[in-house]
Amino acid sequence: MKALVTGITGQDGYYLSKLLLEKGYEVHGLIRRSSSFNTSRIEPLMSKYESENKLKLYYSDLLDSSSITSLINLIEPDEVYNLAAQSHVAVSFKNPLYTSQVGTIGVISLLEAVKNSSKNIKFYQASSSEMYGGKDDSLLNEESQFTPKSPYAISKVFAHEMTKIYRESYDMFAVNGILFNHESPHRGETFVTRKVTKAVGRIKQGIQTKLTLGNLDAFRDWGFAGDYVEGMWLMMQHKEPSDWVLATGESHSVKEFTKKAFEILDLDWKAYVETDEKYKRPNEVKHLLGDSSKAKKELNWEPKTSFEDLISMMVESDNEQAKQEKLLIDKGLLYPTWENSSI
Ligand code: NAP
Ligand code: GDD
Repeated sequence: MKALVTGITGQDGYYLSKLLLEKGYEVHGLIRRSSSFNTSRIEPLMSKYESENKLKLYYSDLLDSSSITSLINLIEPDEVYNLAAQSHVAVSFKNPLYTSQVGTIGVISLLEAVKNSSKNIKFYQASSSEMYGGKDDSLLNEESQFTPKSPYAISKVFAHEMTKIYRESYDMFAVNGILFNHESPHRGETFVTRKVTKAVGRIKQGIQTKLTLGNLDAFRDWGFAGDYVEGMWLMMQHKEPSDWVLATGESHSVKEFTKKAFEILDLDWKAYVETDEKYKRPNEVKHLLGDSSKAKKELNWEPKTSFEDLISMMVESDNEQAKQEKLLIDKGLLYPTWENSSI
């Protein structure tokens, strides 16, 4: 089996590629040229699988439709997983045009290339719980209404509906995975969970003094990315294409996540955490809570990692990283950066 994974350098790209390679797939990944290396997450996979020709990487971009078409024709994958996106909601307010171009035109380019291929290719679209724009503690499922609240969310609604249109119009095997927030030690450092766990490790090791956050009262349904990529694969193996929600069915506030993360290293969060308006969004999604009973019934999928285990996994990993960082700083090999990121 051959899979093409867009967004392979991201959090989910790493976990999904690892899963597919372990299942014996040949994995082809699309990477972007950048002035510094952007493949750190997948380095372990590259060193293990590239020499065996099981993992192949290609420079491209979702906005370069001619290269996307060429790659589909060259690789002739059995499955395409479209994970590429400008995936940061706050950044989407700052860069609405770029976020929308990648999230809409980029997705159509891929759908067109898949549709026009002589091979029958299955297509997975990374849809998002952000599309619901949750304002209260309602349980959200595949039938719930979308009320997008950001340029990111509305692009995801467009791609979601377009994927359905291709499925219905051209008899394509095209699925949408509506995934609620999922995190891991490989989560991008400007998403709130990782921003918190990284700060906890650095504060413990004495290389950061405070953590500045935005809205502490937002609620999210947080799961572990490693569990969610299994759900993506199961969707692609189902006999009929459809749309499925993946979620834990539990919602927790940013404040609760933060408090628990500090407690793991015996720190009192109140001594270190402050808030600043600059981390608040022009339009906030207040509450997300997912119902994944369709995925449980049809795919036999359910999350395996608890909220507490997820936080521990992330804090422990970031504490180890902070220890390494401290060693390099003490040897004068790394300049200490005290500031939080600006997003
Ligand atoms: P991520 O860590 O931010 O990774 C995004 C990936 O997309 C990176 O590989 C990035 O490449 C790539 N990318 C961005 N713009 C691109 C472009 N123009 N052309 C080609 N590649 C591009 O995101 P993630 O957390 O793994 O999420 C994966 C997908 O699931 C995204 O579509 C996201 O919107 C969606 N999603 C995520 C969650 C979640 O909680 N994690 C929930 C629901 C849906 P670089 O490394 O070069 O930047
Ligand atoms: N990033 C960030 N930084 N968020 C903060 C901060 C902060 O300093 N302080 C509070 N928050 C709040 C945000 O306002 C939001 O309500 C919540 O923490 C979660 O923010 P993120 O971790 O940035 O994730 P997200 O929920 O906006 O989006 C993620 O999940 C979506 C699925 O619902 C991303 O992975 C999206 O790509 C994904 O679609």
